[in-house]
Order: sequence, then structure tokens, then C-alpha cells
Amino acid sequence: MPKASKVVYVCSSCGYQLGTWIGKCPECNEWNTIQEQVSVAKGFGSKSKILKPEKIIDVKAEKRAPRLKTSINDINEVLGGGIVPGSVILLAGQPGIGKSTILMQIADSLAGDNNILYISGEESAEQVSLRASRLGANADKLMVSSSNSTDDIAATILSCEYKLVVVDSIQTISCQDVASAQGSVSQITNSTHILTNVAKNTGTALIIVGHVTKDGSIAGPKLLEHMVDVVMNIEGDRYGGFKVIRSIKNRYGSTDVSAIFEMGDRGLQVVPNPSAELLKEREVTDGSIVLATMEGTRPVLVEVQALVNSSIYGYPKRAASGFDSNRLNLLVAVLEKRTKLTLSDKDIYINIVGGLKIQDPAADLAVCMAIGSAAKGLTLKTDAVVFGEVGLSGEVRHVSNYELRVKEAIKLGFKQVIGPKKSKPADELSTVSNLKEALNKYLG
Ligand code: TYD
Ligand code: MG
Repeated sequence: MPKASKVVYVCSSCGYQLGTWIGKCPECNEWNTIQEQVSVAKGFGSKSKILKPEKIIDVKAEKRAPRLKTSINDINEVLGGGIVPGSVILLAGQPGIGKSTILMQIADSLAGDNNILYISGEESAEQVSLRASRLGANADKLMVSSSNSTDDIAATILSCEYKLVVVDSIQTISCQDVASAQGSVSQITNSTHILTNVAKNTGTALIIVGHVTKDGSIAGPKLLEHMVDVVMNIEGDRYGGFKVIRSIKNRYGSTDVSAIFEMGDRGLQVVPNPSAELLKEREVTDGSIVLATMEGTRPVLVEVQALVNSSIYGYPKRAASGFDSNRLNLLVAVLEKRTKLTLSDKDIYINIVGGLKIQDPAADLAVCMAIGSAAKGLTLKTDAVVFGEVGLSGEVRHVSNYELRVKEAIKLGFKQVIGPKKSKPADELSTVSNLKEALNKYLG
């Protein structure tokens, strides 16, 4: 006899458990996310049966349908070789960054051989078609529809007519049986759940668009990330600059690969040589340092600019665009302590040119040298590329992929690369062991 079941209440957004239902989760502050969950205290049902495991080598994968390959090679690589039939992909990004644009391009390129359906909950079919004609998307088998109903979309997917269905966006569709408003946590999770199920059952690939909130998280529940197979982010500056698409979760491939695009008059175009593009308008002045960073598996040279001004208020301002401001504060503190620079009465601004967001620890040395250069009004003695992580004692530390970074610098015509000591020397590589040495030796 199974024991009496016990009811607990669980927040569907963050997983917080309570003994009673309340309207707002005390943990994540979301409204209407607390749901009843029946948990069985002990024992299991009388209908339970023993599983029949097989040897892993004996499990024959069914003859799998091949991946859907788009005409945009870089997107295929980010996906690990194309879209897996029956997989669910979440494409997340800020409004206006280009999600609908890239998805229309992807849908169009796949619609040569297969029926592809683009469902928009935000725009009417006419508006979608207007965008498609601007992009030159005119494949015969590309279908569009406008709908806000998860149930209708699920029924359409179940018809098995389409190889790929794009749902733009998850925040604009809702299930009939869920009372809460469009875009609420319950609607988003339930809609994703229903659509994921039908996609898996029919082998239809599904791409869901998700808007992100100001702080960069996918609007509504983090839970969405766990429900899908692939999460792709599209990042960058909304107005101009590069847009980087990378996967942050991929059940079918690596998450190291990224693709760099630029918005043109015919949609997002791949940038074949990002380093050259990023350095095109560079002027060698004080405060400008070229950093060799990694964008996924690819080395990219990008200009780091620093501006150092006397602070007119008692509290100096530090701000960074494209770079973590906490990291900037830390590096300023290290510079103050470990070198002779006085920065406590200075406003410091850092800008990464081209809209890239740098998370690579190897940017530390370039940021420090840019600040040093701006503070002293000095430039690098020879035009060099810089990389290396900076520790709290001011030591310059080893980073990964130094060969690729040096190679990219040489390819773009730089004669010198300044990097950490541990990196094995190449002819062009000058190594430094700490910040003081880097500033004294190379700024002049
Ligand atoms: P969009 O793809 O609608 O962004 P999202 O779906 O992420 O909200 O559009 C992004 C921006 O790109 C929009 O401001 C218009 C612009 N754009 C172009 O510059 N060229 C184009 O060919 C297209 C289709 C859009
Ligand atoms: Mg859109």
C-alpha cells in the first residue's frame, strides 16, 4: 500500500518549496509561479515494473534523419553541424538585435527542399512577408502564419507537414488552459512544454525566440533553458556593430563555436575577417591598445580604448562598455597598488570597439595598458598586440590559445605581441612577468 501523498507547493521559476500556496515567490519574487506538486512520501505504486536495461553497444540508434543544413555555414557550426530533426532550439536576445531577421534567413535557406513554417505572434503575416521580401526570402516552400495560440501551433506541428517550425516569440503565445497572461512564467513554461512534446513526437525541428530582460537573463524562467536542447544567444549592440551568435547549451555539439555577423540592408551577413574590420578605423593614440582575444574558437583582434580624466567630484567614476565593470574596478585597484600610477582621483572609461562583449581574462593586460597609456599620455613604443591575465599581485598570467592569438596578430601585419612569460616564445612574442614591467618597458 503506498503511503498517503503529501502536497507541496513549488515555484515553477526557481524551484523554491513551500508548505502553502501564496501569490508571490519569496525567493525569486515572481508572481503566480507557485504550483501544487503531489509528492509521495514513501514507497511506490503497485504497478511499478523493473526496467529492462540493454548493453549500450547493443542499442541501435534508429536510422537517424540527417541534420538540416542552412546556407549560412557559420550558423551550422554553432549548432554543431546543422539543425537536428526533432530538436528544440531557443534563440535568445534583446529586442531589435536581429532574431527575427536571422530566423527568416535560416527558414528561407531551408525551404528549398522542405516545408518550413514561420509563425509570428508579434507581427501579422503581411509584416512578416514585408521583411521577407526585404531579405530576398522567397522560397516556394516557406510558409508564414500569425498566431498567439500555443494549442493551434501544437496542432499544426502535429500535422507533420513541416520540417522546421519557427515560433517568434514564446512571450507572445499562450495556452488556452492556463489562466495567466501572455508572457507570464506559467504561460512560457507550459507553452514550451507543449511545443517541445509535439516537436519530439513528430520529429519536427522547432526554433523558439525568447526575449531577454535588461539584466541579460531569458525573460521569465531560467527553467526554459533546461527544457530545450540548444540555447543560442545573439549578443551585441542594437545599433550597429557586430552581432555574435553563440550557443550556451548544446546537446548536439560544442558550445565553443561562435559566429560573427553584421546587419546589412539584406539582413545579417557573416563577417569574414572580423579583426581587419574591427581595426579598420583605428587611430594610434594614447589609451588605445589592440587586444588579441578569443571569440569561441576563433582569435579576434579588437581595440581597447581607455579615457582617464581628472574627477571633478569626490567619488571617481568608472564605466565600461563591452567589459565587466567589476573587473575594471579590480584592475584599477591592482594598477594603483602595484604600479606608480595614481588613479584614485581619476574618472576612468573603457570602451571595446565594435560592440563585442569581452569576457576573456586575457583582456586584463590590454585594459591595464590602455589605462596606463591614457593616464600618462603615452603610446606603445611599437605598435603591438597585447594579451594576458592580470593577478592581484600585478603578475601577468598565462592564458589559453596563445599560439592562435600570436598567429592572428602576425596575419594582420603586427610585428610585436606582448604576452605572459609562460607562453612559449615565438619570434614576435615579447613576454612580461608583471604590470610594472609591461608599463615601463613598452609605453613611451
Ligand atoms: P529584428 O530582426 O526584427 O530584431 P528582433 O527580432 O531581435 O527584435 O530587427 C533588427 C533590426 O535590424 C531592426 O531594427 C531593423 C534592422 N534590419 C536591417 O538593418 N536590415 C534588414 O535587412 C532587416 C530585415 C532589419
Ligand atoms: Mg522580432
